[in-house]
Amino acid sequence: MTVYFNGSYQAKDAVRVSPDDRGFLLGDGVYEVARTYGGRLFALDRHLERLRYSLGEMRIEGVTVDALGQVFGELLARNDLTTRDALVYLQVTRGAAPRTHGFPYPPVPPTVYAYASPLRLKFDPAKGVAAFTVPDRRWSRCDIKSISLAANVLANQAAQEAGAFEALLVRDGVALEGSHTSLFSVAGGEVRTAPLSNYILPGITRAILLEVCRSAGISARERPLQLEELRQADEVFLAGTTAEVLSVVQLDGRPVGNGTPGPVTRKLRDLFRAETARR
Ligand code: PDD
Repeated sequence: MTVYFNGSYQAKDAVRVSPDDRGFLLGDGVYEVARTYGGRLFALDRHLERLRYSLGEMRIEGVTVDALGQVFGELLARNDLTTRDALVYLQVTRGAAPRTHGFPYPPVPPTVYAYASPLRLKFDPAKGVAAFTVPDRRWSRCDIKSISLAANVLANQAAQEAGAFEALLVRDGVALEGSHTSLFSVAGGEVRTAPLSNYILPGITRAILLEVCRSAGISARERPLQLEELRQADEVFLAGTTAEVLSVVQLDGRPVGNGTPGPVTRKLRDLFRAETARR
């Protein structure tokens, strides 16, 4: 496997990350995950725009974000992934420097790492998945795609140990999003998802789905999802780069609706898939 590390393409095993790297020591960095459909990167511009935002909020400088599209293209080519569905991952940390809480002084170049790998899904979209609610113990800048994911890791593991695919993070009685997905509900024909705030990631699939709803004449509203309301919903689904549109058929061990993927979710999945073929 050939990966990208600090400006060059290398065999993955040849990469040497410094033990002083601030990603390793402090979780001081950001990341992006995008995917391809049949070799074509989907919504790359939006992923790069979100990366710019994350870097800006983290005050990490020295990355030419515009050039990264080419890096992804090169990684796909070098790993023979130009004709199949693949995932691309990119991470930028504040660089390697003796450990301090403040930024390194003098500044050091950021560490940039990227790879492309074949997409392997751990769910069957036709069947849907189970979800499990947990308290949201993340920090209050969830709008930044930070590599500090300890709270997401613990939440997702708790969900898996409860036999579920995804953890739904609940703060003050409001279900915000999954550990690695955006969250939607459908009630009375209306599609609902949490409004953008510092408590959720501005998901790209989420944004595209809201646009898809608008152009298909499906009523959609951004509003907080009370956990109790979620339990009563006709349908619940997850959205994300790898999940696409994924029905939640069971919530905390109880069926959602009749326990099978609902009609609005199925329609949105089809519309979203059509969108991936168009862009
Ligand atoms: N996760 N919310 C969180 C907390 C996420 O980590 C993600 C993405 C999403 C969905 O965002 P998007 O539609 O832009 O993929 C929502 C990625 C895939 C990951 O961490 O692997």
